[in-house]
Amino acid sequence: MQPSTPDKYRPFPPVPLTGRTWPDKTITAAPIWLSTDLRDGNQALFEPLDPASKLRLFELLTRVGFKEIEVAFPAASQTDFDFVRSLIEDSHIPSDVTISVLSQCREHLIRRTMESLQGARRAIVHIYASTAPVFMKTVFRKTPEEVIAMAVSSVKLIRELAAAQPATEWALEFSPENFSGSDLTFARDISDAVAEAWGATPDDKLIVNLPATVELATPNVYADQIEWMCRNLKHRQSMIISVHTHNDRGAAVAAAELALLAGAERVEGCLFGNGERTGNADLVTMGLNLYTQGINPGLDFTELDKLARTAEELTGLPVHPRHPYAGDLVFTAFSGSHQDAIKKGMAARQPGDVWDVPYLPVDPEDLGRGYDSIVRVNSQSGKGGVAYLMETSHGMVMPRRLQVEFSGAVQRRADAKGGEISATELWDLFATEYLKLKKPLLYAGHHLIERDKGQGVSLTVGLDKKTLGLSGLGNGPIDATVHALGLPITLHSYEERAISQGADAKAAAFVEVSMEGVKGMTFGVGVHENIVTASILAVVSAVNRLLAMATREVRAEMLEKLKEE
Ligand code: KIV
Ligand code: ZN
Repeated sequence: MQPSTPDKYRPFPPVPLTGRTWPDKTITAAPIWLSTDLRDGNQALFEPLDPASKLRLFELLTRVGFKEIEVAFPAASQTDFDFVRSLIEDSHIPSDVTISVLSQCREHLIRRTMESLQGARRAIVHIYASTAPVFMKTVFRKTPEEVIAMAVSSVKLIRELAAAQPATEWALEFSPENFSGSDLTFARDISDAVAEAWGATPDDKLIVNLPATVELATPNVYADQIEWMCRNLKHRQSMIISVHTHNDRGAAVAAAELALLAGAERVEGCLFGNGERTGNADLVTMGLNLYTQGINPGLDFTELDKLARTAEELTGLPVHPRHPYAGDLVFTAFSGSHQDAIKKGMAARQPGDVWDVPYLPVDPEDLGRGYDSIVRVNSQSGKGGVAYLMETSHGMVMPRRLQVEFSGAVQRRADAKGGEISATELWDLFATEYLKLKKPLLYAGHHLIERDKGQGVSLTVGLDKKTLGLSGLGNGPIDATVHALGLPITLHSYEERAISQGADAKAAAFVEVSMEGVKGMTFGVGVHENIVTASILAVVSAVNRLLAMATREVRAEMLEKLKEE
């Protein structure tokens, strides 16, 4: 793919930073979070939220644990203004939550913004001015000096209006808009000028928000820009450095994370990455990235599915099935090798262990997900996945070689059907393959006869609409059943297990058998409340499967033998 003109796109220039320190750092604590779902997120929706939905989202955000929430652009619309008023007047703001509102640096907008905040206990007034050359020149037609003057006079006006509302605890946030595409010295100078105009001190800091309004470069470049600012701002000690990244290159979360290494202390973003265009940094992903490193994010995602469904309902935007942590498919393995590794990892876990399960970066239970969807079966799946589902959904722990045998049947079904095989379908298939076999032999009943030298069984089976009474002796009921049938069968293995799910306790018996004249071996399975009955059913199941595998001649010969018994 070639641009239409050779020089249409140019690589982003490197940041003039030497001895950068951020690459050697790690994140050790959660930042201050600001949710801008109700502002950046809301202004990016097909249909902005109505007041009732805004309130629901606000309450949801407070429940997640956000302590700073940007709630509106009150001077931009009556709906936004009224929403701020209703939050304040109807006492919807929890005492530990601070609302923030956005305004451009224009006098009438600032006056309206301050009016919207009357009576607030604490408020952040967030002003922004474009500092990127393309915005200043083309969009606003202002020189850098004029932009600084505009920002400073806006700050002075806010101070004046704030002084007239002393009951409110005021904070100021300043964003040099499109910081990531701005000249760094200019971004620094305007931020310092705003800090001076506000009278910021180390005890009463200015929030300096450095947005990647448009993501223009790799996240390391953004981190360099943030470190450069942190080193070069005159009033750094009187500032909280905040970042606000957008996802134009798909790296908004990475950029915000590297920015934290570079000195940022506060992160703005939205749930599930909502926000203008490609969205803001996804605060769910960021928070859970911290959580999986053992850091408390200070946000609660223990009911992530509910959160995702509510966010979808409110925004009308679906959470992608592969969205980190929250997507429907992110804890689901279809492929055989992944399923096998997950099954082994889950089985090896001991209480109190560090989470270390292959392919699962987080315990789904911590997010309210449960383990039922970890493994799903389609034509890519292997025995591990089939066995896992049979065990977790139906309590059936299969012998290993039966897993292999049955997964062949699953594979054939999945290939024929296409798509996924649900846990219920899997059980139906298992029952068809092993439990419900009634032809040619139909188990009708048995009773055991005690003999001095072992076990006797008297067996009733149906064959070709006839009922046969068979009896045999052996060293146990299975051996006795094999003798009663009088067929050249060899028993290779026998296992029995309790089935651990369902209301009624049941036992499962598994026999692995071969028959003279029939190639290969097969399993037979019986399930019953009584383990002896389960074992006899397993033998009958195995014989039916062997006869299905036999050639026509061998099958006819074996049926004759049965009738002779
Ligand atoms: O992306 C951006 O620059 C913004 C500012 C208003 C902070 O949303
Ligand atoms: Zn934004």
